[in-house]
Amino acid sequence: MLIKFIIILCGIQTIIHGSDDILFYGPGLQPQKIVMPARYFFINITSINEETYKPEIGRSIAVEIKGNSMNSAHCRIWTNVLDRKDGSFIVRYKVYETCDMMYINIYYNSKPIRNSPIKLKGPILPDQCVCPEQDFQTWLKNYECPLSYEQIDKDLKPFGKVRMKPLVEKIIEKYHNPESTSFCHYVVKNNKLYRECYGKHVGFNMFVDNILLSMARKVRLPDLELVANLGDWPLVKKITEPLPIFSWCGTDDTFDIVMPTYDITESTLENMGRVTLDTLSIQGNIERKWKERDARAFWRGRDSRIERLKLIDIARANPDLINASLTNFFFFRDKEKEYGPKIPNISFFKFFNYKYQINIDGTVAAYRLPYLLVGGGLVLKQDSPYYEHFYGQLKPWEHYIPVSRNLSDLTEQIKWARGHDSEAHKIAKNGQNFANENLLPQHIICYHAVLFSEWSKRIEGNVVVKEGMTHVPQPAFKCSCNNNDRDEL
Ligand SMILES: *[C@@H]1O[C@H](CO)[C@@H](O)[C@H](O)[C@H]1NC(C)=O
Ligand SMILES: *[C@@H]1O[C@H](CO)[C@@H](O)[C@H](O)[C@H]1NC(C)=O
Ligand SMILES: *[C@@H]1O[C@H](CO)[C@@H](O)[C@H](O)[C@H]1NC(C)=O
Ligand SMILES: *[C@@H]1O[C@H](CO)[C@@H](O)[C@H](O)[C@H]1NC(C)=O
Repeated sequence: MLIKFIIILCGIQTIIHGSDDILFYGPGLQPQKIVMPARYFFINITSINEETYKPEIGRSIAVEIKGNSMNSAHCRIWTNVLDRKDGSFIVRYKVYETCDMMYINIYYNSKPIRNSPIKLKGPILPDQCVCPEQDFQTWLKNYECPLSYEQIDKDLKPFGKVRMKPLVEKIIEKYHNPESTSFCHYVVKNNKLYRECYGKHVGFNMFVDNILLSMARKVRLPDLELVANLGDWPLVKKITEPLPIFSWCGTDDTFDIVMPTYDITESTLENMGRVTLDTLSIQGNIERKWKERDARAFWRGRDSRIERLKLIDIARANPDLINASLTNFFFFRDKEKEYGPKIPNISFFKFFNYKYQINIDGTVAAYRLPYLLVGGGLVLKQDSPYYEHFYGQLKPWEHYIPVSRNLSDLTEQIKWARGHDSEAHKIAKNGQNFANENLLPQHIICYHAVLFSEWSKRIEGNVVVKEGMTHVPQPAFKCSCNNNDRDEL
């Protein structure tokens, strides 16, 4: 059995047959190679789909993940099965200590499926272990990351080769404006992280710290330097000299290099942790199948853009098409009487009791789009100059329905969706598939990894830690990196 698995697990995109109609696959089946805060894999009963699914089927799958650690017969692991209600399941698990041997048991109607248990030889590390043993290129391959991304190539193109010292000086001179901008200059040297921050509101540097530290625990990062913008808006207008600033949101008229948003990055790093809304959890918390959903568009959010107020007007005039309300007033406090009362948030999971989901920019791009897509909502997306790292891959009418910036065609598009339910359902499914192929935790980590790797290749000269920079340490965690280190504990 073990030998068989070693052979099977060598292939990339490994699919294991649990019976003639049960497949399982995903990064969580290679926990020795792919270290994540929460590992995950998929089980697919291929004979069942959304139409034929019944709740009994959800109850018929059980997963038990056990192991032993270096110094005990039980390795601490928390397992969570998410039922996608279409015959497929996401299994998430979190490893709290280094496991020596691990067994993944999958049962269907209380019987182990074929090829279960999967036996995996450790060390299987928890995410907090600082064990950067591999070089970057090997690690990228092991992690099954793509070699490149179009958006990254496009973003880095203006920069050719760079000498960071003069560029960072220029950025500080030009963009250091404590009242309105906040950014940090980061240095990774010998896999240690240093930063120096500028501006009044630098709390968001924790998101950049967290992803860099997380990567540095797994792999020896190349020495590199970058400036990360902590504000909402991209900074480097195209009418000026291109200076390399990494931002969470891009626009057509700026040079900023786009990183996955702090929101989706945090939900990746805190999966099965502090954050409960992420691209995996949503898929297990949807209550209604497509045909059971209310055939109206749904929206909740705060008043961060004028079109959001306009949406309320449109919704009031068309209650049979749209259910929309503001949950908070901050930008247009004087309009609260007119557009209020504000109503309490509802759980994001409940958004999917409706078929159509409206995505309107907030201060910049609305960072909820990954979640709307993965929930299988038909997204009505406002045209926008703002984009996140993955928008370039999305196509109107394939993954979402476009809506003009001034929302003038919103009701028309909703009526179209109502009149073309199977096409609308197909677009919603395409959006969900896109999210499953591009926006799950593995993909978010890969995007950062390829971005940092490509960026480091462009940096010329020695990377030096500037005097006065703050060292950002790894969080303290006791861990043994391999089976021979038992004594360290
Ligand atoms: C499950 O497998 C079937 C057959 O390969 C496929 O058509 C279906 O899309 C898969 N389901 C999911 C959710 O991936
Ligand atoms: C709008 O949605 C909320 C949450 O689903 C619901 O409680 C409310 O009744 C809906 N309003 C209308 C007019 O349908
Ligand atoms: C509603 O959600 C917003 C954004 O996620 C959050 O800032 C706010 O605190 C929430 N309010 C309540 C009452 O939960
Ligand atoms: C809304 O935008 C469209 C183009 O996207 C334009 O044709 C139309 O005139 C605009 N409507 C209003 C009321 O501004």
